[in-house]
Amino acid sequence: MRITTERLVLRKPSLPDAPAVYRLANDRRVTRWMTLPWPYRPEDAVQFVRMSQREFRKGIGQHFVIERRGDGELLGSVGLMDHRPTHRRAEVGYWLGSEHWKQGYASEALGGVLRLAFRDMQLNRVHAVTFPENEASGAVLLRAGFQREGQHRRHWKHRARWHDLVIWGLLRNEWDGRQKEG
Ligand SMILES: CC(C)(COP(=O)(O)OP(=O)(O)OC[C@H]1O[C@@H](n2cnc3c(N)ncnc32)[C@H](O)[C@@H]1OP(=O)(O)O)[C@@H](O)C(=O)NCCC(=O)NCCS
Repeated sequence: MRITTERLVLRKPSLPDAPAVYRLANDRRVTRWMTLPWPYRPEDAVQFVRMSQREFRKGIGQHFVIERRGDGELLGSVGLMDHRPTHRRAEVGYWLGSEHWKQGYASEALGGVLRLAFRDMQLNRVHAVTFPENEASGAVLLRAGFQREGQHRRHWKHRARWHDLVIWGLLRNEWDGRQKEG
């Protein structure tokens, strides 16, 4: 399974990707608003690859590494999780190594995964959750057409503190409409 966008290839992670995943994710700025483990260890990257292969096999998750087409550099990861066929929905998540931020890569990778979700998998809904403080992630979701639907209060214990979680959603007809608008 591969998804190609203008500048990126999204492909299934394999064990040789683990050292690059570790190098990018072992950065406090990246894991600050994520549920990734901290400190992030080389074994965590291996676990990520194994988990994504397992979830692909079971059909409950489609996780990708994000590779730049020009030079094959690994930039981060994007994926669909918690796929519920009965409800035709899944959750999307993403992160990039900090040296690759603010170049539109997250938006482009998210666009590729939304095409998979709505066009190929025929989902009706994709949702995402963010910590309220994570302005970058909120901006990426808004740009992709997600609506801020609400906020679970004190929903998540992260690094010894309780956090609210913002819920974002995008429906298939909304995504279709945006495709037609171009
Ligand atoms: C969130 C993240 C993936 C954004 O990646 P990115 O490639 O920099 O995002 P993009 O370049 O596609 O930016 C999309 C929009 O967000 C805005 N944005 C990006 N970083 C921002 C920031 N730090 N603060 C405010 N807005 C920001 C961009 O300006 C752009 O808006 P525009 O279309 O109006 O210009 C990246 O910051 C990251 O990996 N953060 C750590 C991991 C994380 O938080 N993941 C999400 C967990 S829910």
